[in-house]
Amino acid sequence: MNIILLGPPGAGKGTQASRLEQQRGMVQLSTGDMLRAAVKAGSPVGLKAKAVMEAGELVSDAIVSGIIGERLDQLDGGGGAIFDGYPRTAPQADALDLLLSERGKTLDHVIELSVDEDALVDRITGRFTCAKCGEGYHDRYKQPATAGVCDVCAATEFKRRPDDNEETVRTRMAEYRAKTAPILPLYEARGLVSQVDGMADIDEVSRQIAAVLDRATQPA
Ligand code: AP5
Repeated sequence: MNIILLGPPGAGKGTQASRLEQQRGMVQLSTGDMLRAAVKAGSPVGLKAKAVMEAGELVSDAIVSGIIGERLDQLDGGGGAIFDGYPRTAPQADALDLLLSERGKTLDHVIELSVDEDALVDRITGRFTCAKCGEGYHDRYKQPATAGVCDVCAATEFKRRPDDNEETVRTRMAEYRAKTAPILPLYEARGLVSQVDGMADIDEVSRQIAAVLDRATQPA
C-alpha cells in the first residue's frame, strides 16, 4: 500500500510515518529528511537546497521528484511507501502519479492531518532531537527523563533544525496554504482522502490512522 501523509509543517507527518514504518513494515520517504541529508553531505542537491530550506521556501519540483524517483527504485516490495512531505505542489502530484505508474505501482490513500496552525508554531519552535540517534523531544511536552541526557542512547548532544524559528515557520505555513493545500481537492476528486484529527494526542492520531488503513485494506 502506498500512501501520502499530508498536512502543514508540524502536523505530525514525520512522527506518524516513523510509527507506521515500525508497525506496518512500510517505508517512510521524507523529502525533508532526504534534503537535510544532502545539505549535510554537501552534495550538489544539498548546495542548491540549503538556502531555500533555511528561508522556509520550497525546493524545485525537479529536484524533489528526482530524489523520490531514485528512492522508489531502491524499494524492494514490502509494505509499501509512506510519502512524508511529498508531493507539495500540483506538478509534484503529477510527477508522483507518473513515477508510480512507471514502476507498476499505484497511490492507494491520502491521509490529511487536520490541525490548528497557531498550535503548530509552538510544536515546531519547541522541538529538538538527539544529535546521535535522532530521538525527538520538546521543550514543554517531552523533555529527556534526565536533563541533558537522551533517554534512548544516553548521548548528551541535541540539535534544532535551522528552519524551526518562528519567522521561517510562518513562511513554511504560507507555502503550504498557497502551494500544497490546493492539491487536496485533486485527490478528493479521486476518492483517496481521509481526514484525521492531527490535534489529538500522538497515540490517538496513530489509532485513527490505523483505523483508516485497516478499512482501506479490507476486501470490499
Ligand atoms: P519537511 O522536513 O518536510 O518539514 P515540514 O513539512 O515543514 O514538516 P515538519 O517536519 O516540520 O513537521 P511534521 O509534520 O513532520 O511534524 P513532526 O512529526 O516533526 O520540509 C522541510 C523543508 O524541506 C521545506 O520547508 C522545504 O524547503 C523542503 N522540502 C521538503 N519536501 C519538499 C518538497 N516535496 N518540495 C519542495 N521542498 C521540499 O511533529 C512536529 C512536532 O510536534 C514534534 O516535536 C512532535 O513530537 C510533535 N507532535 C507531533 N504530533 C503531535 C501531536 N499529535 N500532539 C502533540 N505533539 C505532536
